[in-house]
Amino acid sequence: MADSLSSPPLTKDLRRVLIDADSISRRVDELAREIDERYKDIEEPLILVGVLKGSFIYMADLARKLTIPHIVDFIAISSYGAQGDKRGEVRLLMDTRENLSGRDVLVVEDILDSGNTLSYLIRLFKSRGVKSISTTVFLDKPERHEVPVDIAFMGFDIPDVWVVGYGLDYKEKYRTLPYIAEMYPQK
Ligand code: XMP
Ligand code: MG
Repeated sequence: MADSLSSPPLTKDLRRVLIDADSISRRVDELAREIDERYKDIEEPLILVGVLKGSFIYMADLARKLTIPHIVDFIAISSYGAQGDKRGEVRLLMDTRENLSGRDVLVVEDILDSGNTLSYLIRLFKSRGVKSISTTVFLDKPERHEVPVDIAFMGFDIPDVWVVGYGLDYKEKYRTLPYIAEMYPQK
């Protein structure tokens, strides 16, 4: 599955490549075509809101493959665990630059785990009077869902393992690997 060009050698932390760079690129192409089709009659540019930091590579690849008019924006939130937050608690660290009121918004996220992050963001954006809201998530861990979230454009289902690469990190490491790898459980 993984060829030597798109998949540099694994380090001691990484068990295996789950999704190689070519498979990622093909899937992003397909998702971009689906999003183009869904928003082909859009009146004002679609606002893509990436959730920092994890989504930045997926955002860059996806946005460059869209042919519909769009604007790129970002939001940053704290995830549980990072600052010892309570599980399920989500806090806004950095808001969007665009005013989302009356606009079509597509939230761009790296991975769906419990669903807390996306359900918080969907609630937040609805409260700001968006015209429409939908979501694209590159990876999904279906076994981990705690709250239901409707994902319109989903990349891949993966098992309940910690993954890195393509924007995803372990303590800020491995974020820019060109493939998605499974880590060995860390002590
Ligand atoms: P929730 O639980 O709110 O979480 O759906 C989504 C966020 O959890 C992080 N996350 C991961 N990050 N490798 C990562 O690098 C993983 O395997 C992983 N699982 C969850 C991620 O920040 C995501 O936005
Ligand atoms: Mg994230």
